[in-house]
Amino acid sequence: MKFAFIIDPLAKLDPTHDSSVAMMESAGNLGHEVYITSINELSVVGGKAYAHLQKISLKPVKLVDNHWKAEENWYLLEESTFLPLESYNAVFMRTDPPVNTPYLYATYILDLIDPKKTKVVNSPQGIRAANEKMYALQFPSVIPDTIVTQSKSVIADFLSQKEALILKPLGGKAGEGILFLQQGDRNFNSLIEISTKQGKEPIMVQEYLPSAKEGDKRIILLNGKPIGAVNRIPTGKEFRGNMAVGGRVAQTDITERELNICEILAPKLIEDGLFFVGIDVIGGYLTEVNVTSPTGIREIDLLNNVNLGQDVINAIAF
Ligand SMILES: Nc1ncnc2c1ncn2[C@@H]1O[C@H](COP(=O)(O)OP(=O)(O)O)[C@@H](O)[C@H]1O
Ligand SMILES: [Mg+2]
Repeated sequence: MKFAFIIDPLAKLDPTHDSSVAMMESAGNLGHEVYITSINELSVVGGKAYAHLQKISLKPVKLVDNHWKAEENWYLLEESTFLPLESYNAVFMRTDPPVNTPYLYATYILDLIDPKKTKVVNSPQGIRAANEKMYALQFPSVIPDTIVTQSKSVIADFLSQKEALILKPLGGKAGEGILFLQQGDRNFNSLIEISTKQGKEPIMVQEYLPSAKEGDKRIILLNGKPIGAVNRIPTGKEFRGNMAVGGRVAQTDITERELNICEILAPKLIEDGLFFVGIDVIGGYLTEVNVTSPTGIREIDLLNNVNLGQDVINAIAF
């Protein structure tokens, strides 16, 4: 089979950490052809989605001292060709947020791919439907107390009912712009002004869950089913658990309650074409549904001695 991956520049990817690289590597190991492109290499010609693509061969990472190790020259690229994306069996849209205007335009180009010919992961309609922070609001029974607003007075009222809050920009990732706010904070006005861009942009405001100290669990769902999980534990000096800000990864299991969250989400994820998703769960509460380029595969593979990339590829290439 032929797989196309729409990714960020390779120089930005860490082969020992990035789930896109893990999936490309698995596809290659399973005997499939892998091609890469990026959102600014997409075109529409004759009503069809086209891209400049390069065939890529990957040198698989190796386990050294219980860590993944990549060779210095970990990939080999061939000449670029301009082809319709429908000539591939599957297209993985794996560009990192922000979901900005060029990103959205790319999803409209991917809309032109006939799903009977080529599976797009995740579906462009699904990516547009699911803001990574706001999508969770559709599952009110499993999320912490949450509001979305740009109003200082609405936030002040919410804070008066809670000991502490977490402020989240709606388009962030990897802990970017996440703020902790507690009652009596002398920076209250300033923090709200900065994060709402002077009241011009709504943010998510969530009750602070003290169990975040024990970790922010990433659960990977494939077609609505959980296939693996990893816990990310904040270091003592940082309240955020994200790996990008130094969160320590730790082996973990999926609890009954977390399985239940996955079951609640599954029908909607499937309906929205969200085939490969990473949810974040803190203390048994759903806090985020990552649909653009969720990570975690390398860490789960290492800690649980599995190969999730292979599971994802096999679920498409059956
Ligand atoms: N409600 C919450 N209570 C406590 N900590 C939180 C809460 N929501 C998020 N966090 C912390 O902030 C980090 C980032 O939050 P998240 O909503 O996953 O956004 P993103 O990962 O996209 O930056 C989490 O890893 C967690 O440590
Ligand atoms: Mg997160």
